[in-house]
Amino acid sequence: MKALIDPMDLTAGQVAEILDLADRIIADPKAYAHKCDGKKLATLFYEPSTRTRLSFEAAMLELGGSVIGFASADSSSASKGESVADTIRVIGCYADIAAIRHPKEGAALVAAQNAAIPVINAGDGGHQHPTQTLTDLLTIRSLKGRLDNLTLGLCGDLTFGRTVHSLIRAMMRYPNVRFVLISPRELPVPDYIREELVAKGIPFTEARRLEDEIGNLDVLYMTRVQRERFFNEEDYIRLRDSYILDKAKMDLAKPDMIVLHPLPRVNEIAVEVDSDPRACYFKQVLYGKYVRMALMLKMLEVEGC
Ligand code: NCD
Repeated sequence: MKALIDPMDLTAGQVAEILDLADRIIADPKAYAHKCDGKKLATLFYEPSTRTRLSFEAAMLELGGSVIGFASADSSSASKGESVADTIRVIGCYADIAAIRHPKEGAALVAAQNAAIPVINAGDGGHQHPTQTLTDLLTIRSLKGRLDNLTLGLCGDLTFGRTVHSLIRAMMRYPNVRFVLISPRELPVPDYIREELVAKGIPFTEARRLEDEIGNLDVLYMTRVQRERFFNEEDYIRLRDSYILDKAKMDLAKPDMIVLHPLPRVNEIAVEVDSDPRACYFKQVLYGKYVRMALMLKMLEVEGC
Protein backbone atom coordinates (compact mmCIF):
# COMPACT_ATOMS: atom_id res chain seq x y z
CA MET A 1 0.00 0.00 0.00
CA LYS A 2 1.54 3.32 -1.12
CA ALA A 3 -0.69 5.70 0.78
CA LEU A 4 -3.58 5.93 3.19
CA ILE A 5 -5.42 9.19 2.58
CA ASP A 6 -9.07 8.27 2.94
CA PRO A 7 -10.52 5.29 4.85
CA MET A 8 -11.95 4.05 1.54
CA ASP A 9 -8.40 3.51 0.25
CA LEU A 10 -8.62 0.29 2.23
CA THR A 11 -10.95 -2.50 1.22
CA ALA A 12 -13.07 -4.04 3.95
CA GLY A 13 -10.74 -7.04 3.70
CA GLN A 14 -7.65 -4.90 4.26
CA VAL A 15 -9.30 -3.21 7.25
CA ALA A 16 -10.04 -6.63 8.75
CA GLU A 17 -6.42 -7.69 8.20
CA ILE A 18 -5.11 -4.58 9.97
CA LEU A 19 -7.51 -5.05 12.90
CA ASP A 20 -6.61 -8.76 13.13
CA LEU A 21 -2.91 -7.89 13.17
CA ALA A 22 -3.56 -5.28 15.89
CA ASP A 23 -5.28 -8.01 17.93
CA ARG A 24 -2.23 -10.26 17.53
CA ILE A 25 0.07 -7.42 18.62
CA ILE A 26 -2.10 -6.77 21.70
CA ALA A 27 -1.93 -10.48 22.56
CA ASP A 28 1.87 -10.67 22.21
CA PRO A 29 3.59 -7.28 21.83
CA LYS A 30 7.06 -8.76 22.41
CA ALA A 31 6.79 -10.75 19.19
CA TYR A 32 6.70 -7.46 17.27
CA ALA A 33 9.35 -5.53 19.24
CA HIS A 34 11.97 -5.81 16.48
CA LYS A 35 9.84 -5.96 13.37
CA CYS A 36 10.84 -2.44 12.33
CA ASP A 37 14.48 -2.48 13.44
CA GLY A 38 16.38 -0.02 11.27
CA LYS A 39 13.20 1.63 9.92
CA LYS A 40 12.43 5.31 10.32
CA LEU A 41 9.08 7.06 10.59
CA ALA A 42 8.86 10.78 9.77
CA THR A 43 6.04 12.70 11.48
CA LEU A 44 5.28 15.92 9.59
CA PHE A 45 2.79 17.80 11.74
CA TYR A 46 1.79 21.23 10.48
CA GLU A 47 -1.09 21.37 12.96
CA PRO A 48 -1.24 20.70 16.73
CA SER A 49 -1.61 17.15 17.97
CA THR A 50 -1.01 15.17 21.12
CA ARG A 51 -2.40 11.68 20.61
CA THR A 52 -2.01 11.17 16.92
CA ARG A 53 1.63 12.23 16.68
CA LEU A 54 2.70 10.59 19.91
CA SER A 55 0.83 7.38 19.16
CA PHE A 56 2.51 7.15 15.75
CA GLU A 57 5.85 7.74 17.41
CA ALA A 58 5.20 5.30 20.26
CA ALA A 59 4.00 2.74 17.71
CA MET A 60 7.20 2.95 15.67
CA LEU A 61 9.42 2.89 18.77
CA GLU A 62 7.59 -0.21 20.06
CA LEU A 63 8.29 -1.90 16.73
CA GLY A 64 12.01 -1.26 17.19
CA GLY A 65 12.22 1.60 14.68
CA SER A 66 13.05 5.25 15.18
CA VAL A 67 11.34 8.56 14.56
CA ILE A 68 12.23 11.94 13.07
CA GLY A 69 10.00 14.90 12.32
CA PHE A 70 8.52 18.19 13.40
CA ALA A 71 5.52 19.09 15.51
CA SER A 72 4.53 22.46 14.06
CA ALA A 73 4.72 24.37 10.80
CA ASP A 74 6.75 27.08 12.56
CA SER A 75 9.59 24.69 13.22
CA SER A 76 9.73 23.43 9.61
CA SER A 77 10.74 25.06 6.33
CA ALA A 78 7.03 25.65 5.67
CA SER A 79 7.67 28.88 7.57
CA LYS A 80 10.13 29.80 4.79
CA GLY A 81 7.55 29.01 2.14
CA GLU A 82 8.52 25.46 1.19
CA SER A 83 5.71 23.45 -0.41
CA VAL A 84 4.44 20.13 0.96
CA ALA A 85 5.47 18.53 -2.35
CA ASP A 86 9.09 19.60 -1.91
CA THR A 87 9.22 18.74 1.77
CA ILE A 88 7.99 15.18 1.18
CA ARG A 89 10.55 14.66 -1.60
CA VAL A 90 13.25 15.59 0.88
CA ILE A 91 11.84 13.46 3.70
CA GLY A 92 11.90 10.47 1.35
CA CYS A 93 15.70 10.62 1.53
CA TYR A 94 15.65 10.26 5.32
CA ALA A 95 12.70 8.07 6.28
CA ASP A 96 10.93 4.85 5.22
CA ILE A 97 7.37 6.02 5.92
CA ALA A 98 5.71 9.34 6.74
CA ALA A 99 2.64 10.48 8.67
CA ILE A 100 1.43 13.97 7.79
CA ARG A 101 -1.09 16.30 9.43
CA HIS A 102 -1.95 19.55 7.74
CA PRO A 103 -4.65 22.23 8.12
CA LYS A 104 -5.45 22.14 4.39
CA GLU A 105 -7.80 19.56 2.92
CA GLY A 106 -5.94 17.57 0.28
CA ALA A 107 -2.42 18.24 1.62
CA ALA A 108 -1.83 14.57 2.44
CA LEU A 109 -2.86 13.58 -1.07
CA VAL A 110 -0.39 16.07 -2.56
CA ALA A 111 2.31 14.63 -0.30
CA ALA A 112 1.47 11.07 -1.37
CA GLN A 113 1.57 12.02 -5.06
CA ASN A 114 5.08 13.41 -4.66
CA ALA A 115 6.51 10.86 -2.27
CA ALA A 116 8.85 7.97 -2.87
CA ILE A 117 7.79 6.45 0.47
CA PRO A 118 4.39 5.40 1.88
CA VAL A 119 2.40 8.36 3.24
CA ILE A 120 -0.29 8.24 5.90
CA ASN A 121 -2.84 11.03 6.31
CA ALA A 122 -2.89 11.93 10.01
CA GLY A 123 -5.65 14.50 9.43
CA ASP A 124 -6.12 16.98 6.57
CA GLY A 125 -8.14 20.03 7.61
CA GLY A 126 -11.83 19.28 8.08
CA HIS A 127 -11.64 16.42 5.59
CA GLN A 128 -10.50 12.94 6.68
CA HIS A 129 -8.58 11.20 9.46
CA PRO A 130 -8.26 7.53 8.49
CA THR A 131 -6.01 6.34 11.33
CA GLN A 132 -8.41 7.72 13.93
CA THR A 133 -11.04 5.67 12.12
CA LEU A 134 -8.95 2.51 12.29
CA THR A 135 -8.62 3.26 16.01
CA ASP A 136 -12.39 3.66 16.31
CA LEU A 137 -13.06 0.45 14.37
CA LEU A 138 -10.65 -1.56 16.51
CA THR A 139 -12.21 -0.09 19.66
CA ILE A 140 -15.76 -0.86 18.53
CA ARG A 141 -14.87 -4.37 17.32
CA SER A 142 -12.99 -5.13 20.55
CA LEU A 143 -15.62 -3.78 22.93
CA LYS A 144 -18.85 -4.62 21.08
CA GLY A 145 -17.56 -7.75 19.36
CA ARG A 146 -18.74 -6.67 15.90
CA LEU A 147 -18.83 -3.91 13.31
CA ASP A 148 -22.22 -4.84 11.85
CA ASN A 149 -25.71 -4.58 13.36
CA LEU A 150 -25.00 -1.37 15.22
CA THR A 151 -26.76 1.93 15.76
CA LEU A 152 -24.04 4.54 15.84
CA GLY A 153 -24.75 8.04 17.14
CA LEU A 154 -22.36 10.82 16.16
CA CYS A 155 -22.80 13.99 18.16
CA GLY A 156 -21.34 17.50 18.00
CA ASP A 157 -19.58 19.30 15.18
CA LEU A 158 -20.41 17.08 12.23
CA THR A 159 -19.45 19.74 9.69
CA PHE A 160 -15.80 20.23 10.54
CA GLY A 161 -15.10 17.01 12.47
CA ARG A 162 -12.88 14.99 10.15
CA THR A 163 -12.99 11.98 12.48
CA VAL A 164 -16.75 11.89 11.95
CA HIS A 165 -16.46 12.00 8.17
CA SER A 166 -13.96 9.17 8.10
CA LEU A 167 -15.85 7.01 10.58
CA ILE A 168 -19.15 7.31 8.72
CA ARG A 169 -17.51 6.40 5.42
CA ALA A 170 -15.76 3.40 6.94
CA MET A 171 -18.81 2.12 8.84
CA MET A 172 -21.14 2.44 5.83
CA ARG A 173 -19.97 -0.81 4.39
CA TYR A 174 -20.91 -3.09 7.28
CA PRO A 175 -24.34 -4.68 7.14
CA ASN A 176 -27.20 -3.27 9.15
CA VAL A 177 -25.41 -0.22 10.49
CA ARG A 178 -27.59 2.83 11.06
CA PHE A 179 -26.43 6.34 11.84
CA VAL A 180 -27.99 8.93 14.11
CA LEU A 181 -26.40 12.28 13.29
CA ILE A 182 -26.89 14.67 16.21
CA SER A 183 -25.73 18.23 15.64
CA PRO A 184 -26.82 21.86 15.88
CA ARG A 185 -28.65 23.02 12.76
CA GLU A 186 -25.52 25.00 11.80
CA LEU A 187 -23.14 22.03 11.99
CA PRO A 188 -24.62 19.13 10.01
CA VAL A 189 -22.58 16.54 8.07
CA PRO A 190 -21.29 17.89 4.74
CA ASP A 191 -23.48 17.26 1.70
CA TYR A 192 -21.06 14.77 0.17
CA ILE A 193 -21.48 12.50 3.19
CA ARG A 194 -25.28 12.82 3.24
CA GLU A 195 -25.42 12.17 -0.52
CA GLU A 196 -23.30 9.06 -0.14
CA LEU A 197 -25.58 7.72 2.62
CA VAL A 198 -28.63 8.36 0.46
CA ALA A 199 -27.05 6.86 -2.67
CA LYS A 200 -26.10 3.68 -0.84
CA GLY A 201 -29.46 3.38 0.88
CA ILE A 202 -27.91 3.43 4.36
CA PRO A 203 -30.42 4.26 7.10
CA PHE A 204 -29.69 7.52 8.93
CA THR A 205 -31.52 10.23 10.80
CA GLU A 206 -30.49 13.76 11.62
CA ALA A 207 -31.43 14.98 15.08
CA ARG A 208 -30.93 17.93 17.39
CA ARG A 209 -31.40 16.59 20.92
CA LEU A 210 -29.01 14.01 22.35
CA GLU A 211 -31.40 13.09 25.16
CA ASP A 212 -34.07 12.06 22.64
CA GLU A 213 -31.73 9.70 20.79
CA ILE A 214 -29.28 8.31 23.32
CA GLY A 215 -31.55 5.43 24.41
CA ASN A 216 -31.41 3.84 20.94
CA LEU A 217 -27.64 3.86 20.51
CA ASP A 218 -25.07 1.05 20.72
CA VAL A 219 -22.17 3.45 20.26
CA LEU A 220 -22.13 7.18 21.02
CA TYR A 221 -19.29 9.08 19.32
CA MET A 222 -18.92 12.51 20.92
CA THR A 223 -16.88 15.23 19.25
CA ARG A 224 -15.47 18.65 20.05
CA VAL A 225 -16.66 21.78 18.25
CA GLN A 226 -13.69 22.49 15.97
CA ARG A 227 -12.85 26.04 17.02
CA GLU A 228 -9.87 26.36 14.65
CA ARG A 229 -12.09 25.80 11.59
CA PHE A 230 -14.67 28.46 12.45
CA PHE A 231 -14.69 31.73 10.58
CA ASN A 232 -15.57 33.76 13.64
CA GLU A 233 -15.24 33.39 17.38
CA GLU A 234 -18.83 34.47 18.10
CA ASP A 235 -20.27 31.47 16.26
CA TYR A 236 -17.88 29.20 18.09
CA ILE A 237 -18.88 30.59 21.48
CA ARG A 238 -22.56 30.24 20.64
CA LEU A 239 -22.21 26.63 19.50
CA ARG A 240 -19.43 25.18 21.64
CA ASP A 241 -21.64 23.95 24.48
CA SER A 242 -24.47 22.62 22.30
CA TYR A 243 -24.04 19.14 23.77
CA ILE A 244 -22.75 18.11 27.15
CA LEU A 245 -22.91 14.44 27.98
CA ASP A 246 -23.46 14.08 31.71
CA LYS A 247 -24.64 11.48 34.22
CA ALA A 248 -28.30 12.39 33.72
CA LYS A 249 -28.06 11.69 29.97
CA MET A 250 -26.06 8.50 30.58
CA ASP A 251 -28.99 7.29 32.73
CA LEU A 252 -31.10 7.28 29.55
CA ALA A 253 -28.63 5.10 27.61
CA LYS A 254 -28.54 1.33 27.19
CA PRO A 255 -26.48 -0.50 29.82
CA ASP A 256 -24.12 -1.76 27.12
CA MET A 257 -23.77 1.41 25.05
CA ILE A 258 -20.18 2.59 24.72
CA VAL A 259 -19.08 6.23 24.62
CA LEU A 260 -16.15 7.09 22.34
CA HIS A 261 -14.44 10.42 21.66
CA PRO A 262 -11.37 11.01 19.49
CA LEU A 263 -10.14 13.53 22.09
CA PRO A 264 -9.20 16.22 22.95
CA ARG A 265 -12.34 16.80 24.98
CA VAL A 266 -13.29 20.33 25.88
CA ASN A 267 -16.73 20.53 27.58
CA GLU A 268 -18.75 17.97 25.68
CA ILE A 269 -18.32 15.14 28.17
CA ALA A 270 -18.60 16.03 31.86
CA VAL A 271 -15.75 14.61 33.91
CA GLU A 272 -18.33 12.79 36.07
CA VAL A 273 -18.95 10.44 33.12
CA ASP A 274 -15.33 9.20 33.13
CA SER A 275 -15.99 6.73 35.95
CA ASP A 276 -18.97 5.17 34.12
CA PRO A 277 -17.89 1.76 32.79
CA ARG A 278 -19.44 2.70 29.44
CA ALA A 279 -16.95 5.59 29.02
CA CYS A 280 -14.35 4.06 26.72
CA TYR A 281 -12.50 7.09 25.32
CA PHE A 282 -9.30 6.50 27.23
CA LYS A 283 -9.22 2.81 26.24
CA GLN A 284 -9.69 4.03 22.68
CA VAL A 285 -6.36 5.89 22.91
CA LEU A 286 -4.51 2.66 23.63
CA TYR A 287 -6.16 0.89 20.72
CA GLY A 288 -4.89 3.77 18.56
CA LYS A 289 -1.28 2.87 19.24
CA TYR A 290 -1.77 -0.80 18.41
CA VAL A 291 -3.67 -0.14 15.24
CA ARG A 292 -0.96 2.26 14.02
CA MET A 293 1.63 -0.42 14.72
CA ALA A 294 -0.40 -2.81 12.58
CA LEU A 295 -0.90 -0.26 9.81
CA MET A 296 2.80 0.58 9.54
CA LEU A 297 3.77 -3.10 9.48
CA LYS A 298 1.38 -3.61 6.58
CA MET A 299 2.46 -0.50 4.69
CA LEU A 300 6.12 -1.34 5.11
CA GLU A 301 5.33 -4.90 3.96
CA VAL A 302 7.21 -6.39 6.89
CA GLU A 303 7.56 -10.12 6.46
CA GLY A 304 5.22 -12.37 8.41
CA CYS A 305 2.77 -9.59 9.33
C1 NCD B 1 -9.07 14.72 16.35
C2 NCD B 1 -8.49 15.46 15.16
O1 NCD B 1 -7.36 15.92 15.21
O2 NCD B 1 -9.22 15.53 14.18
N1 NCD B 1 -8.12 14.41 17.32
C3 NCD B 1 -7.39 13.27 17.16
O3 NCD B 1 -6.72 13.07 16.19
N2 NCD B 1 -7.50 12.35 18.13
C4 NCD B 1 -10.27 15.33 16.91
C5 NCD B 1 -10.24 16.76 17.34
O4 NCD B 1 -9.22 17.46 17.23
O5 NCD B 1 -11.30 17.20 17.82
